[in-house]
Amino acid sequence: MRVGILTGGGDCPGLNAVIRAVVRKGTMYYGDSVVGFLEGWRGVVENRAMELDLDSIAGIIHRGGTILRTSRTNPARDPEGLERVKKTFQAQRLGALVAVGGDDTLGVAQWISQAGLPVVGVPKTIDNDLSGTDLCFGFDTAVGIATEAIDRLHSTAEAHNRVMVVEVMGREAGWIAVYSGIAGGADVILIPEKPFNLEEVCELLRRRHARGKYFSIVVVAEGAKWAEAPVTQGGQRDEFGHERLGGVSNLLAEQIERHTGYETRVVILGHTQRGGSPTAFDRMLATRYGVQAMDMVHRGEFGRMASLRGQAMASVPLEEALQRNRKVGEDLYSMASVFFG
Ligand code: F6P
Repeated sequence: MRVGILTGGGDCPGLNAVIRAVVRKGTMYYGDSVVGFLEGWRGVVENRAMELDLDSIAGIIHRGGTILRTSRTNPARDPEGLERVKKTFQAQRLGALVAVGGDDTLGVAQWISQAGLPVVGVPKTIDNDLSGTDLCFGFDTAVGIATEAIDRLHSTAEAHNRVMVVEVMGREAGWIAVYSGIAGGADVILIPEKPFNLEEVCELLRRRHARGKYFSIVVVAEGAKWAEAPVTQGGQRDEFGHERLGGVSNLLAEQIERHTGYETRVVILGHTQRGGSPTAFDRMLATRYGVQAMDMVHRGEFGRMASLRGQAMASVPLEEALQRNRKVGEDLYSMASVFFG
């Protein structure tokens, strides 16, 4: 069979491990030929692609980014988008397409699947908020990077008697904030799921300082809501309609300093959380997803997504993955709050 693969949306450590696994399982086990579309759905719409053989995937498992590059192209915005995608399927004689991405990329996968094209999804987002699976690859790497940053910020915060506000990624869900915040010993963690009250945050910091601690670490997810709305960077939207988030930490730091009198600094970790080499855990998880996706292709399980359920690989309908974002639950957040203040 001839199988296509694309990587769409924000990049994520582990994408190359998925590509490697898809090519390896396809060529060595099923006798497939694999073609990689360049820059997400843009490559499918424009039929820009590269052949993926064993040589092209050698030495990539440890590399961040994606050898196919990525974009946030949305073919559904183009009235001729579906026709173009169909033409590429014909021109490439594709028997199946593996789409590796988050809710936007997989939303397009579902859209072409409903039009009758054979597609299998692989869940990808450092935010870890896709439904239909227990864990997305890339998350473990992002948490590791954020935790290391928090560890480093501890010593400088302590040396200067400062409050450090650390902004991490997490558009709709605060998984990175909660995991890195707990692991890094944060004193307050703020997430999109839980509207926060500035006075309560200040009170937690005062309580901590009152017991002789003269520095604090506040971890805030970029999507945490300020006055009930996320903070954006001036209204720019991508092709899926998402505004660019960022800056809640600046507002928070200003107000913390004003209300408590504690000197406060801001660190926005941004794209460092997505860059560089994946952890061993993410390489393993991404590899399992890639192999599972090829097995699904050959079982004809189209319109579905490779998924992790507990310790085992599974397959779920794309709509299950797309119905809502997977949020941090009350139980986990209340566990995190044991360590606040
Ligand atoms: O893919 C999810 C994510 O990492 C979000 O947490 C963040 O808001 C967004 O990507 C940033 O994307 P971009 O690369 O377009 O700035």
